[in-house]
Amino acid sequence: MGSYGVYVHLPWCATRCHYCSFNIHLDRRRPERAYTTALLRQWAAHAEHFQGAPETLHFGGGTPSLHPVELLAELIEAVGAQAEVALEANPSSTSPEQVRAWLDAGVTRLSLGIQTFSPRFVRFLNRGHSLEESLALLDAVATERPASWSVDLIFGLPEQTLAELDEELDHLLSRRPPHVSLYGLTVEPGTAYANTVGRGRRPPAGEELWERMYLRVVERLSESGYERYEVSNFALPGHRSRHNEHTWRYRPYAGLGAGAHGFLPSGARTVGRPDPAGFIANPLLWESLEPPDPEQALSDLVVSTLRHTEGLPRPTLRRMGQRLDLAALAPLLDSGHLALSPEALRLGPAGWTVADALSLKVRQSFRPLA
Ligand SMILES: C[S@@+](CC[C@H](N)C(=O)[O-])C[C@H]1O[C@@H](n2cnc3c(N)ncnc32)[C@H](O)[C@@H]1O
Ligand code: SF4
Repeated sequence: MGSYGVYVHLPWCATRCHYCSFNIHLDRRRPERAYTTALLRQWAAHAEHFQGAPETLHFGGGTPSLHPVELLAELIEAVGAQAEVALEANPSSTSPEQVRAWLDAGVTRLSLGIQTFSPRFVRFLNRGHSLEESLALLDAVATERPASWSVDLIFGLPEQTLAELDEELDHLLSRRPPHVSLYGLTVEPGTAYANTVGRGRRPPAGEELWERMYLRVVERLSESGYERYEVSNFALPGHRSRHNEHTWRYRPYAGLGAGAHGFLPSGARTVGRPDPAGFIANPLLWESLEPPDPEQALSDLVVSTLRHTEGLPRPTLRRMGQRLDLAALAPLLDSGHLALSPEALRLGPAGWTVADALSLKVRQSFRPLA
């Protein structure tokens, strides 16, 4: 089994959520057959870059739960992932029967985009599913028993209180999903939500409340037996997302489909053409295939490893011709923001709420090996 993953982007959604800046399309008539054929062609062309079968296959979006199951089955068979086949599903486009059909087609892990159980915030985010639909989906998935499953939630919503966050966590924990991803709401340029905030209305939680909410999430989930293995990701034992482990452990993955990003074993980054029609017309024309750039590779290493509990691997840094300037990092080590061992530089107890700011400082502490 190769230690690489495959990401397949399925770019269509029924509506656009107000906070979302992803490369998505709202066409009513979706050329799903032609798009799948293009994906199969692109996958065949990727073979020269990767050795052996991939470990994981991840269908992301967009809304992969809109894609016909027989086309998903074709892709699953062609890719032949050995350990995990994951699919992102939205409550408004998922029925209990569909859950069974996905598992029969070879899906082993479902990632359910609940985002919020609160009717008020469902409306605000333009998600279009009721509390009952969300809970029914969680129950249907639990009954069908995939190898693993996960729920995505967003916190730090405008005017959300800690008590409301607790209610979200109560609903979540009542179904005990094996894996949870919890993201603080961010304002992405060009979204409907960015316009609202631009007019001075309904900003997300400020820094202090955001931190209290994040710590509340960590406390509640760890009391319930979840391990935090990445800043935003929590798993019961044995249920980490293998796909995400590729991203955070700086391992290669193939990125297939419109606008999908890939990371080849050579270190080069690939980006597919963003529009589905262009992708279908020529799936072998990547919009850019960057040559491996050493400076970019070092930044990628920090960004993709520091948020993970296993941290930045020092042997990898040495192989890239660099070392850490420990004198420059001493204040952050002393304050408990970072922790050092011979193998890795990790987030310390005080570092988890400021991981992205720390990434920048860690990157600035790299020095060429003598
Ligand atoms: C690939 S995205 C979307 C997955 C799926 N299409 C859905 O909507 O459920 C993965 C996750 O990123 C998070 N996310 C996307 N935009 C965000 C934003 N502006 N702020 C916080 N979290 C966001 C959401 O939790 C989402 O489930
Ligand atoms: S369903 Fe997901 S990908 Fe589609 S618009 Fe909403 S957040 Fe974005």
